[in-house]
Amino acid sequence: MIKTHQAVNTQAADHQAANDVTDSPLQDLTIGFIGAGNMATSIICGLVSSGLSADKIFVSNPSPDKLNALAKRFETLNTSRDNQWVAKQADVLVIAVKPQKIAQACAGFTTLDWDNKCVISVAAGVTCNSLQQLTRPQVAIIRSMPNTPATIGYGATGLFANTYARQIDKGIAEAVFNCVGSSIWVEKESLMDVITAISGSGPAHYFLYLESVIEAAIRHGLDPDIARQLATQTALGAAALAQQNTNIEIQQLRHNVTSPGGTTAAAVEVLIEKALPQTIADAITASVNRGQQLAKIAESDLNAQLKSTKSS
Ligand SMILES: NC(=O)c1ccc[n+]([C@@H]2O[C@H](COP(=O)([O-])OP(=O)(O)OC[C@H]3O[C@@H](n4cnc5c(N)ncnc54)[C@H](OP(=O)(O)O)[C@@H]3O)[C@@H](O)[C@H]2O)c1
Repeated sequence: MIKTHQAVNTQAADHQAANDVTDSPLQDLTIGFIGAGNMATSIICGLVSSGLSADKIFVSNPSPDKLNALAKRFETLNTSRDNQWVAKQADVLVIAVKPQKIAQACAGFTTLDWDNKCVISVAAGVTCNSLQQLTRPQVAIIRSMPNTPATIGYGATGLFANTYARQIDKGIAEAVFNCVGSSIWVEKESLMDVITAISGSGPAHYFLYLESVIEAAIRHGLDPDIARQLATQTALGAAALAQQNTNIEIQQLRHNVTSPGGTTAAAVEVLIEKALPQTIADAITASVNRGQQLAKIAESDLNAQLKSTKSS
């Protein structure tokens, strides 16, 4: 048990050192967060552990509890319940509220000076077009889709930049998300729905697999703690092998551990016979489709809210 725990912690420490921001453009900037929930907290923790001074960070949230918890953890962090004040202080503004709260959270933002500011949104399904309506038509916007492993520095974040985002804005967004894992760009905004299905929702797919393996191991007599330790370390090891050997096809890595007529082959044959690959493909398609539907709902809700704000 202890050995596994140490292995994970060592990797997390390496990750933080690799994403040191002391020499990045972030050092000269202030970064604001609208919303102090799970995702904002993960990113703030990642930024501070990567070397950003907490006094460069501004955070707003309606209820004080989360702000107080953050202020207790990082003494020099700037907290407020005033979103506009935080937006004014920030060179880089991270919008980290639920999609249905975004219109309310960004109320009055159109009157702010957006010159030289860049907006990073983590809100699932909220398009650059909507974010431009909430801020300014020509503002640099970066949409992101992180995932929950970001809380321990193992996040996988997909990024998309609108045409107004400059190279420096993109570098800033990468620096932010590399503090909580790794990031990757896509060139088409519509691919954000695929990223949501693969990495945003992805941890749940792997958890379901782990749950099933652990339950089966327990049914075959293994102690639950041992089953969990073995299953999780195996998942971590398999992912690391695949990640560190990009020159080897993943199918080849599978063949490397599958001797004909052996124990692995017996399991893989059942998985293929029971159509696991097709089931996963169907699940991803369902997730992409749902993401597209939710994005449409978020867009029309937002437009309705914007219209009612303009007419009142
Ligand atoms: N969690 C994930 O795995 C994940 C992954 C990818 C993307 N995202 C996206 O990240 C965003 C945030 O998710 P989350 O999991 O961090 O949610 P969360 O924990 O619920 O955080 C949202 C925060 O927004 C605050 N808020 C609500 N109304 C606000 C307003 N008018 N002004 C300022 N702040 C306001 C909430 O404050 P109160 O609680 O005090 O009301 C809450 O602290 C969502 O858009 C989600 O789509 C999340």
